[in-house]
Amino acid sequence: MSGLLITGGAGFIGGNFVRHWLREHPRDHVVVLDALTYAGNLESLDDVRDHAGFRFVHADICDRETVARVFEEEGIDRVTHFAAESHVDRSILGPAEFVRTNIEGTFTLLDVARQAWDGDRNCRFLHVSTDEVYGSLTADEPAFTETHPYRPNSPYSASKASSDHLVRAWFETYDMPVLTTNCSNNYGPFQFPEKLIPLVILNALEGKPLPVYGDGSNVRDWLHVEDHCRGIAAVLERGTPGEVYNIGGDNERSNIEIVQLLCDHLDRLRPAEQSYRELIRFVTDRPGHDFRYAIDSGKIQRELGWRPEIGFDEGLASTIDWYLDHLDWCERIRSGEYRRYYERQYADRVDKSTG
Ligand code: NAD
Ligand code: DAU
Repeated sequence: MSGLLITGGAGFIGGNFVRHWLREHPRDHVVVLDALTYAGNLESLDDVRDHAGFRFVHADICDRETVARVFEEEGIDRVTHFAAESHVDRSILGPAEFVRTNIEGTFTLLDVARQAWDGDRNCRFLHVSTDEVYGSLTADEPAFTETHPYRPNSPYSASKASSDHLVRAWFETYDMPVLTTNCSNNYGPFQFPEKLIPLVILNALEGKPLPVYGDGSNVRDWLHVEDHCRGIAAVLERGTPGEVYNIGGDNERSNIEIVQLLCDHLDRLRPAEQSYRELIRFVTDRPGHDFRYAIDSGKIQRELGWRPEIGFDEGLASTIDWYLDHLDWCERIRSGEYRRYYERQYADRVDKSTG
């Protein structure tokens, strides 16, 4: 028996990966394990839930007993580990859950897998991580390679960095067949609207302020989630155990450029009395806000033949269309919990816009 465990498969990237994998491997046995936190939503998996090889387990990755039972009962021989607390602003408001899920949860999975696999080097444990572990770049520094020193600056990135170190140690010490990917900012369908792109789309449609932290000059490297999923699949299938692969879009944009682009698209698609740009507000900066991320994805391109395929213009346009077509999904997932978070996160941010 063979099974692929996808932790966090009810979240944004995990859910897109489940769909991607089952499209490419319709006969595979896929087990999604997810605690269904505010960010997890089973509705996002509606189109695959009736798939013959699909199973969903509602559980926490820190619940060792349940994780061990799933490994045994489902014949898990591969893991793609997405489950995490993933939002930087939340980690600043409340870091404890980040330490628990991202560090303790990853430890639990590694430890259970090591015991279940008992030295079988044909198994695979792929840990999905982030470029934020490398810290911040100045405007002129070269993009992050896999050997860039770790300098995490937020509780979120520090917790992800810790989990990366655990994964590395399980390779060096126990010879576990682990792989790590560090990816840049993803965008695309099913992203929770606390993240910049969906937050701006939904706020604009509701005529609410579009909060830009600081002066909007911070830079992120945007990659369509489907390209990320193809990269993860390539590493899972063909990557070398113990290796790290950076995945990025070679697509650096300042935050203000992103927000203005979104406004211009919406001005065409859903014209209002005045341009959506009028809603932009420069607000108090995020503490410890990393200035710039940029990924050098040369290694995965050379070694595994992966490259981004979805151009940013095309990807952004289809993402906006997806949100406009799924406003009911957005409304349903913006639970009471999300509304409370939103009030706390944005209530005290001073509007620093001029004019
Ligand atoms: P997300 O917040 O949308 O989804 C996280 C999922 O994990 C949710 O379904 C949630 O219910 C689940 N989860 C949280 N805590 C859990 C726990 N204790 N036990 C079981 N399930 C739990 O996150 P995302 O944006 O899809 O990110 C997925 C992974 O990719 C994360 O590890 C993140 O660090 C990494 N990553 C994200 C990005 C990005 O731009 N979003 C970029 C690079 C890497
Ligand atoms: O780089 C990969 C990371 O990208 C992932 O590891 C994280 O899980 C993911 O959340 C994302 O982190 P960011 O902090 O870069 O994403 P976010 O969408 O929160 O913010 C993108 C940029 O926009 C960042 O510079 C902060 C800024 N921002 C964000 C929000 C929510 C604003 O200016 N206003 C906002 O309201």
